[in-house]
Amino acid sequence: MTKLKGKKILLGITGSIAAYKSAVLARLLIKEGAQVQVLMTPAAKAFITPLTLSTLTRRPAFSEVSSEESWHNHVELGLWADAMLIAPATATTLSKLAHGLADNIIVAAYLSARCPVFFAPAMDLDMWAHPATQENVRRLLSYGNHLIPVGEGELASGLVGPGRMAEPEEIASYLSKYWQQEQSLAGRKVLLTAGPTYEAIDPVRFIGNRSSGKMGVALADAAAKRGADVTLIMGPSRLSPQHPGVKTIRVETADQMFQAATRFFPDADISILAAAVADYRPKEASAEKIKKKSEGLTLELVKNPDIAASLGKTKKAGQLLVGFALETHNETANALEKLEKKNFDCIVLNSLQDAGAGFNVDTNKISILHKNNKIRNFELKSKAAVAEDILDEVETLLRQL
Ligand code: C5P
Repeated sequence: MTKLKGKKILLGITGSIAAYKSAVLARLLIKEGAQVQVLMTPAAKAFITPLTLSTLTRRPAFSEVSSEESWHNHVELGLWADAMLIAPATATTLSKLAHGLADNIIVAAYLSARCPVFFAPAMDLDMWAHPATQENVRRLLSYGNHLIPVGEGELASGLVGPGRMAEPEEIASYLSKYWQQEQSLAGRKVLLTAGPTYEAIDPVRFIGNRSSGKMGVALADAAAKRGADVTLIMGPSRLSPQHPGVKTIRVETADQMFQAATRFFPDADISILAAAVADYRPKEASAEKIKKKSEGLTLELVKNPDIAASLGKTKKAGQLLVGFALETHNETANALEKLEKKNFDCIVLNSLQDAGAGFNVDTNKISILHKNNKIRNFELKSKAAVAEDILDEVETLLRQL
């Protein structure tokens, strides 16, 4: 975790029972060589004392923008920091951060900060699941802030579920990893395909699939965060990448995805094909809505271009091509066959037999299969964490080219 050495961290602590863990967190960051300036909300003082924190960090812990004797310059604090970390972040704090309601020193410093901001929420599971909270989180992510995912388990209310603050060790390693990965793909061009494709039957109906595009969007964000120049070719999906650097090209059909991918592929250093492309499309899309006149209806389907296989054929030395395989049976054998046939450098396998893996869920459980039959199996993780694993693997392959 040496990446924390010398880093200046503003640690914002808000009023949650998880605040007792912030002392351990502060201690951990200091031990790793960071300088930590604690900011607290008045509510946080009910859970942990400023004295504990100032003793651990060897700096006074500020809980007011001003007191009778002094004014703490939140603008200066915001500019001083290499990172701002708000842990725990309560539902109230998320709301204030999302809306810029600067009635305490943490939100005031947050609005002035030019550094990356990380927040580790902590609350009861229903508060966490509430659409208002989730909307605030989305907003904060859309401003480029970083969410340190909540843990699952027993909560202070006695209920069990998601909402716990990540453990101090996880938070510290999240920050460390951020600095470690920073710019590790700088100067690299990454091409991604994601989402489903829709193949028109008539102006109203289409053939599609259950892909949400989540995995591809997570990959796009993760690659952009590492400094890559990312082009995301995205089938119909309601999702968008959060990272402002990602260039997104929206397409609808496999053919449109094929055209776009073929155009960008020659310049790409790394291409990751996470899209669930329809294998067939109706031979002809009816210009008018098909009426239900007869008892049955037969659609004639024709094969779509195989984008992966086509790119695989034109792949040059120095280019990496990564595929996905979503299988329901004979997973490994099928994936290895695709790896070979489509000329992938490696293939990411997710099995629909694993709970929490595959379409339309926030988690995934993958294996990465290599040409030499080497297989790496990973645990069930958030798609964001899976994206990091995939990019780590890609970076290893890149170094071997
Ligand atoms: O053959 P299958 O569809 O299972 O292969 C999956 C891999 O091939 C994925 O990486 C997918 O994005 C890619 N693919 C493609 N074009 C197709 C079909 C699949 O790029 N027409």
